Amino acid sequence: MAITALIADSKSVSRQELVGLLGRDRAIEVIGDSREGQETIEMARSLRPNVVLLDGGITSPDAVTVVENMQLASSETAVIVLIDGVNIDLVRRLMRAGARDCLVKPVGVDDLLNTIRSVHHQMQKQRAALDAGNADAQMASGQMIAVYSPQGGAGKSILAANLGVALAKAMGADQSKGRVALVDLNLQFGDIDLMLNLSPDNTIAGLAQKSSSGLDAELVEQYLTVHEESGLRVLVAPSTPQHAESITVYTVEQVLDILRGSYQFVIVDTPSQLQDTTLAALDASSMILLTATLDLLALHKTRIALDMLRQLYVPEKIQVVLNRANSDTGISIEEVEESLGVPVRLQIPSDGRTVVPSVNEGKPFVLSASQTPIARRVNDFALELLGRETSSKNGDQANKNVGFLKKLFG
Ligand SMILES: Nc1ncnc2c1ncn2[C@@H]1O[C@H](COP(=O)(O)OP(=O)(O)O)[C@@H](O)[C@H]1O
Ligand SMILES: [Mg+2]
Repeated sequence: MAITALIADSKSVSRQELVGLLGRDRAIEVIGDSREGQETIEMARSLRPNVVLLDGGITSPDAVTVVENMQLASSETAVIVLIDGVNIDLVRRLMRAGARDCLVKPVGVDDLLNTIRSVHHQMQKQRAALDAGNADAQMASGQMIAVYSPQGGAGKSILAANLGVALAKAMGADQSKGRVALVDLNLQFGDIDLMLNLSPDNTIAGLAQKSSSGLDAELVEQYLTVHEESGLRVLVAPSTPQHAESITVYTVEQVLDILRGSYQFVIVDTPSQLQDTTLAALDASSMILLTATLDLLALHKTRIALDMLRQLYVPEKIQVVLNRANSDTGISIEEVEESLGVPVRLQIPSDGRTVVPSVNEGKPFVLSASQTPIARRVNDFALELLGRETSSKNGDQANKNVGFLKKLFG
């Protein structure tokens, strides 16, 4: 594609001369010419040329002001100024204002063409670097997923632990592209370390002590415990409930922010109480997995929580997970969806034979029993989050019994 140029010169003779000269080069297309400063700025704003060839003697306003305004008018435009004699002071002012190059008249044709080409090339390179930087920044800012439920025993921690391990395992080969962290925000009675059979040297309580003097990624990293089998990094909850008090919402906000900056996925396991630290995690997350089980009291609480979360966040952020979805409770998935008014995003089957030994031995079932339906469901969900193909179709056979929820929710 030709380099587009705008020519700005108050003197019509030299303007015409430049237009004719550049017009003969097929790599350059003159898309306009102007005779005054303000006219030049306005034309650049509407035409967005790659290059403005600006006469240093231009007036209303002068060349330095035109160059200064060019950044705002058309940031992708490079300005080359043609000046009448070697005037270091003027050159410095022009360059400081943002001119790309200055040439002293009379300028040889080759010199002029080479300068236009090289300035344009530089601009393209800079733009590419900027785009790549933006893409990196987007990659670097990870996705935070909070697992929440107003109900104890809904399966939050089991889901958080297994999802974290599943993601870390799935990303194993390309750890360079990002990693997975899991934060146990059950500050009083965290159990992720037991579920993953970890022997942590440090917990979030230690980080809380450091937090008043400021945390950074390197320090936070030192407080994570590695789950060797998967590569998942875990920020473990305090070992005793007394420590919970020392962990402020400020610490939690800082830690989550830092982790999101250095991990591609951050999974946060939360307690059922809506304390300020839990809310901080829900705020910081881009997805909340609202976990429910198939019983009336649980669904009642889930609906209250859903109503509250909907007032705080955009609807897409809140995704309902139905755990123990095939339990024989006489409540169907359709009824759940109807009563909650949202579709169930993920159904996890009930499977005590897999889950109980997995918890007791500290071996996440997505690794230790990866062929069971429950493990496949969580592994598939992880792949879905990664935007990859899954092995099976999501969707349990719904229980057709109806009636219970209608009584409760009308
Ligand atoms: N899909 C499931 N199948 C069988 N048992 C389950 C399932 N999900 C959870 N459980 C049982 O429920 C218990 C509580 O799960 P947990 O993840 O600790 O709940 P929460 O973190 O929401 O309090 C587990 O120890 C396990 O015995
Ligand atoms: Mg839990």
